Amino acid sequence: MPIRQLKIRGVRNLQPLDLTLHPGVNFIYGANGSGKTSILEAIVLMATGKSFRTSQLKHVQAQDADRIELVFDIEDEALGQCQLDSLRLKSGDNLLKLNGSVLTAQTEAAQWLPVQVIEPTTFKLLSGSPEERRQFIDWGVFHVEQKFIEHWKVFRKQLKQRNAVLKEKELQWLPVWNQTFAESAAVIDNYRRTYLKRFKPEFERILQQLDDSIQVQLAYYPGWDRDSELNDVLNKQQERDLALGYTQSGPHRAELRIKVDKQPAAEILSRGQQKTVVAALKIAQGALFQQESGRRTIYLVDDLASELDEKHRFALCKLLEDLKCQVFITSIDKDKLTDIWQPVASKVFHVEQGIISEDSPATA
Ligand SMILES: Nc1ncnc2c1ncn2[C@@H]1O[C@H](COP(=O)(O)OP(=O)(O)OP(=O)(O)O)[C@@H](O)[C@H]1O
Ligand SMILES: [Mg+2]
Repeated sequence: MPIRQLKIRGVRNLQPLDLTLHPGVNFIYGANGSGKTSILEAIVLMATGKSFRTSQLKHVQAQDADRIELVFDIEDEALGQCQLDSLRLKSGDNLLKLNGSVLTAQTEAAQWLPVQVIEPTTFKLLSGSPEERRQFIDWGVFHVEQKFIEHWKVFRKQLKQRNAVLKEKELQWLPVWNQTFAESAAVIDNYRRTYLKRFKPEFERILQQLDDSIQVQLAYYPGWDRDSELNDVLNKQQERDLALGYTQSGPHRAELRIKVDKQPAAEILSRGQQKTVVAALKIAQGALFQQESGRRTIYLVDDLASELDEKHRFALCKLLEDLKCQVFITSIDKDKLTDIWQPVASKVFHVEQGIISEDSPATA
């Protein structure tokens, strides 16, 4: 699934950038503030329409630019070749194209770019809001189950309509909406549940390889009392839903609980251990995606050395190498990368004040 060529214009401090990438490992090193994370940020922006650093995309756009322009040439094992083109103006308008044809949904671009990010704040997947862990599950389902996105859109629409009915206090319509809402909720729940059943053993296998001293349990909560039918729960909670003006229970409240000895993992594990668990979650997801679709994930590992000691860094790199997928790894020092790991298939890039250059094989 590699990105073959990358063109980036108007992102943070990066100078106009045209890169031919390696389908395997791409090391990117450079001093603080040189632009390493910004390169990864641009890839995530193309894949998801979002940044992992800010919720306000205006900060991603270079101060002296009037637009962000990204062009990616992609070669996918299953989908073939394509060119993705994204133009994002200061006004917030965004034009996304696939082989020159305008796309109407970001998810159509996302399909081509199954990207996973491991960066210094990824431990937040454990300590952050349930929404982050819901999105994590849904990444896996979305990339494996082609019909999921359609069901997801139907579910979101029904949630919106039920909430509107609650706000307007249109009591006569509620039984109808409860029924249809519960039906589409069951579809989403079923996708997530069956995905996690396949995911758990993969996660345990990967975590064992990263660090066999960490014992973590994953528990799925569907968003309502698992021993009750959602329709019954909705009927029971109707008064409170009406008072609040929104639906309290359903797949929009689902949660992946990650525990150590029955306690939340985020409260027990050290920062490095949390990063290891999150890396295991993300690598397991990529491995499962590969097994089930025959396609590969693209891994973006920002600041590899942060929080991870040499042993864990090496174990992580080995797992990524075994997956034979495209990887981007950044580090301040070149040695921090190349001392522990020298994959056969790689390119080394150096970034200096927003300018990126490829190290020649002799210096790499
Ligand atoms: N909108 C912007 N326009 C221009 N420059 C920006 C903008 N936003 C951030 N910068 C600058 O861009 C540079 C790139 O930052 P980036 O986070 O990519 O560096 P980095 O190489 O990852 O550094 P570190 O090793 O500290 O993580 C920084 O020097 C920052 O001050
Ligand atoms: Mg950085």
